[in-house]
Amino acid sequence: MRNARLGLGFVIVVAICGLLGIAARAALAAPLRTSATAKGLFVGAAVNMTPFRNEPIYTETLRREFNLLVGENAFKFDAVHPARTTFNFTDSDALVAFAQANGMAIRGHTLVWHNQLPSWLTGGTFTRDEVIAIMRDHIMTVVGRYRGKILAWDVVNEALEDGSGQPRTSSFWFQRIGPEYIAMAFQFAHEADPDALLYYNDFEAEGAGAKSDGVFSLVSGLVNQGVPIDGVGWQTHKVNPFRITTANQANAQRLAALGLEVSITEMDIRIALPSDAQELQQQALGYGDAVTFCLTEPNCAAVVTWGFTDKFSWIPGVFSGFGDGLIFDMSYQAKPAYTAMQTILEAGLGNAPPVPTGVQATAGSGQVALTWSASAGATSYNVKRATTSGGPYTTVASPATTAFTNTGLTNGTTYFFVVSAVNASGESANSTQVSATPQAASFTLSASPASLTVNLGACGTTTIGIARTGGFTASVAFTAQGAPPGVTATFNPSSTTGASTVLTVCASASAVAGGATLTVSGAGGSLTRTTPVALTVSTTTTGNGGVTITPVVAASGPWFNEEQVQVASTANLTALSVTVTIQRTAGVSFAGQFNTVGGQIAQSNSSTAAAITYQFALAAGQTLAPSNQRTFAAQASGSGTVHPTAGDTFAVTYTTGGQSFTQTGHF
Ligand code: G3I
Repeated sequence: MRNARLGLGFVIVVAICGLLGIAARAALAAPLRTSATAKGLFVGAAVNMTPFRNEPIYTETLRREFNLLVGENAFKFDAVHPARTTFNFTDSDALVAFAQANGMAIRGHTLVWHNQLPSWLTGGTFTRDEVIAIMRDHIMTVVGRYRGKILAWDVVNEALEDGSGQPRTSSFWFQRIGPEYIAMAFQFAHEADPDALLYYNDFEAEGAGAKSDGVFSLVSGLVNQGVPIDGVGWQTHKVNPFRITTANQANAQRLAALGLEVSITEMDIRIALPSDAQELQQQALGYGDAVTFCLTEPNCAAVVTWGFTDKFSWIPGVFSGFGDGLIFDMSYQAKPAYTAMQTILEAGLGNAPPVPTGVQATAGSGQVALTWSASAGATSYNVKRATTSGGPYTTVASPATTAFTNTGLTNGTTYFFVVSAVNASGESANSTQVSATPQAASFTLSASPASLTVNLGACGTTTIGIARTGGFTASVAFTAQGAPPGVTATFNPSSTTGASTVLTVCASASAVAGGATLTVSGAGGSLTRTTPVALTVSTTTTGNGGVTITPVVAASGPWFNEEQVQVASTANLTALSVTVTIQRTAGVSFAGQFNTVGGQIAQSNSSTAAAITYQFALAAGQTLAPSNQRTFAAQASGSGTVHPTAGDTFAVTYTTGGQSFTQTGHF
C-alpha cells in the first residue's frame, strides 16, 4: 500500500511558508491544517467554483484552514470533456494552480461515474470498443494533464447500488462496457499517473451493512486480480446525530488488511432546519469523531468535507428542510464542529480522553452545581461557561473530579456550560451543552383552584402548590387566617418539604353564609409567603329532598380504615352518585369497597399518589325506593396511619322528584 500520509511531505514545506503569516495566531488556536499537517493528516474541503471566483473570504478561509482541496464539480466528466474531442480545463486548472500556490494537496474527483456525463456521450451510438476508447482517452487526458500534481483520484465513483451493494447495472459504463469497466478504469489511471493514489469512492461504505460489504467485496476482487487500487473513499454524507462506531474501525481494519487506505472524502452532517445549539454540539461530536478516527486508524489518510461553509452546500437543494451540515456557518464563522476538529487535532495524536457525557446542571441561589460521568484516562476537566447558547465559552474551573459548583453567579441569568476532559496528551472536544438559571433560595405559594364554594354543613378542597427556587429545601408549615365563624380550615399535610398540600375548608350547618378571603400562609426557613383563597359559604343546598347523608367511620385503626357514606331517603331516587376520597397519607392503598344496594350500583375506584377515589353510581334508568339502610363503604389499608385524616371527603349527588341535589362533607 502506498499511503497518502507520506505524500504530505511535499505540501509541508510550502505550507509552512504559506502559514508564516498566521503563525502568531496559531499559538492560541491553530487553523486546522497547521496541526493536521503536524500529525501527518490531510484535512480537506470540496470547492465550489462560484464563491471560489467571487468571494475573497471563501478562498481566504480555504487556504487558511485546509491542506487539501477537491473540486466539487470541476473535474467531473461533463465539466472537463464537453464534446468528444473538446476538453475544458478552465476550472480544474484554476484549482490546481490555487492548491499549488498555497501548499495544498489535491484529490481528483471523479473520472468514471454514472452522473454528470455529457449528452454527446450518453446519447451517442458507440460500440463497446469505442466507449472503452473514449473512457481511456478521457482518463489519459485528464490524469495525464495533472500527472505528479494530484495526490489521489476517485477513479470510479458509486459503481454499486444503494442499499444492496450489488453492481449498479443501470450505469452507462456497466451497460456499454460490462462490469470489467472498473478494472479498466484503474489500469488506465495508473498508466496515466503511476504515482497518483487510485481510489474507489462511494457512500454508505463507511460502516457495517450490505453496501459496505459490497464495496469490500469489489475492492478485494480488484486487489486479488492485481488491479492498481490504493484506497477506498467513504463519502460520509450523514444526518445529525452521527457518531463513528466500532463498525467503522472494523471496516477500516479489514481494508487495511487488503493493503488499502481509506479517506473520508465528502463529509457533511445535515440537520433539520432550523438547527439549534444542542444540535450543533451533537454535530460537533460527529466531526470530532471523524478526526479522532483518522488519527487513530493507521490507514486513514484524510478527512475531507463536502464544502466548508453552510453558505455553499449541495444539501438544501437536495434534502428539502435540511442544511447546516458543514463546519463554518453562512457567515464563515467557525461552528462547534470546527472547534471539535481543531481541539482534537491540537491534542496529542488522538490520545486525548473521550468527551465527557451525562453532564447535568442544577441551579441554586447564585450558583450552579455541575456533575458529569468520568472520561476514561482524564486527569482533569475543563468546565466552560457562556451567557449565550453555543458560546463563546470561558473556562471557569479545571477540577480533577467529576463535579464542580460554580458560585458567585447572578440570580435570574441563564448560564450555559460545556465540559471537556484533559490528560497529558490533550483535551477532548466539548460535551453537549447544558444550561441553568440560578434563583434566590425562596418559595412561592399558589392555590388551585383559587376560589372555593362550600355549602353549609359541607367541605371543599383546594391544592396549595409550593414552587421552590434556588435550592430551597426547608419544610413549609401552613396556617390560614380570615375564616368566618363556623368555618374551619385544615391542611393535609400541615407542614411539608414537598411540592403541595391540600387545604380542606368545612362550613358547619350554622355557619354564616357569605364571602370571605382566606389568607393561606406558609412559613419555612426564615421566609413566610401567602396566597389568597376566595371563599364563598353558600346556602344553595338548603333542602335535601328528603335524603339524609351520614358519614360513618366504621373502622379506624393503624392498618385498616373503613369510611362509609350512609344514605337514607324518604322518596324515590332516580339518580345517585357517591364519591369518597381518602387521602393517601403515608401511602395508604385501596383495600376494597362495597355497598348494600347490590347490582344496580356500579363501583369503581382510582388512585393517584395523593388520594384514592371510590365511586358508586346508580345505573341509568334505575330507581331506588325509599330506604334507611344504604351503605357505601370505602376501605383503605397498609399505612400504619389512622384515618380519617383531614381531606377524607365525600360527595353525594342525587335526583329525587325531578330535582338534583349535592351534599358534600368529610369524615
Ligand atoms: O453546471 C450547471 C450550470 O451550467 C447550470 O446553470 C446549473 C443549473 O442548475 O446547473 C449546473 O450544474 C449543477 C452542478 O452541480 C454544478 O453546479 C447540477 O445541476 C447539479 O446537479 C450539480 O450537483 C452536484 C451533484 O454532485 C451532481 O450529482 C453537486 O454540486 C455536488 O455537490 C454533488 O456531489 C456529489 C459527489 O460528486 C459524489 N457523491 C455525492 C455528492 C453529493 O450529491
